[in-house]
Amino acid sequence: MWTTGTRVGWTVMLLFVVLLVLVSARYLTMDPQVYFPRQREVYEAHTAWLMVHIGGMILAAAIGPFQFLRSFRNRYRRAHRIAGRVYLLGALVGGVGGLYMAQLSASGTISDVGFSLLAIAVLVTSGMAFVRIRAGEVQAHREWMTRSYALMLAAVTLRIYAPFLEAWLGEQDGYALVAWVSWVPNLVVAEYLVRRNARRREPPRDVTALA
Ligand code: HEM
Repeated sequence: MWTTGTRVGWTVMLLFVVLLVLVSARYLTMDPQVYFPRQREVYEAHTAWLMVHIGGMILAAAIGPFQFLRSFRNRYRRAHRIAGRVYLLGALVGGVGGLYMAQLSASGTISDVGFSLLAIAVLVTSGMAFVRIRAGEVQAHREWMTRSYALMLAAVTLRIYAPFLEAWLGEQDGYALVAWVSWVPNLVVAEYLVRRNARRREPPRDVTALA
């Protein structure tokens, strides 16, 4: 049973994801005028990889929130399974595209490494979610999906933090920093939620002692 806080959190997340998808979908027109101005030339020279990245990530980002809805999962198991495969495909394709684009990012080595690790983390956590569900380990699958989607939300947190960090440190350094702070705290929060939920599922100590 979801608490009011969880419902509000899910709805806020959905709103941010809808905005992200709308903003990102403009790239699919392949009109250079909509590209991130500092990287316009790079994007024009690597359009195919950029589209692979954005296309895959839009799919995964849009599907993700609904996969966490227990009522949807229970009522439409087959749809959950199909959507899960599409999510995985999107994360895989978008992650490989992201890894490629990471080598060309706007603030050089520091942002290249930050985005590369993010892309690898997305690939690993999404892959683990798949491996766990194939092994029938539903709880472990949920936990890996929580980590995977928290990383996916880096695309949202990046766009929230970037203007502040760039105003504070300048475009170059602010963007280099955001390539890290957009995802490391998300992963820490996901880990906290996973562990907190695991603790809540544990039987109370005195009951275990009696058993
Ligand atoms: C979570 C893993 C992700 C990684 C590793 C990643 C990586 C990257 C990299 C390296 C770039 C180029 C940045 C630069 O030019 O400096 C980029 C650009 C972009 N990515 Fe991602 N990304 C991820 C998630 C997403 C998601 C979920 C979306 C949207 C649904 C998305 C949409 C975009 C867009 C629209 C751009 C073009 C630049 C901009 O408008 O900011 N990315 N991404």
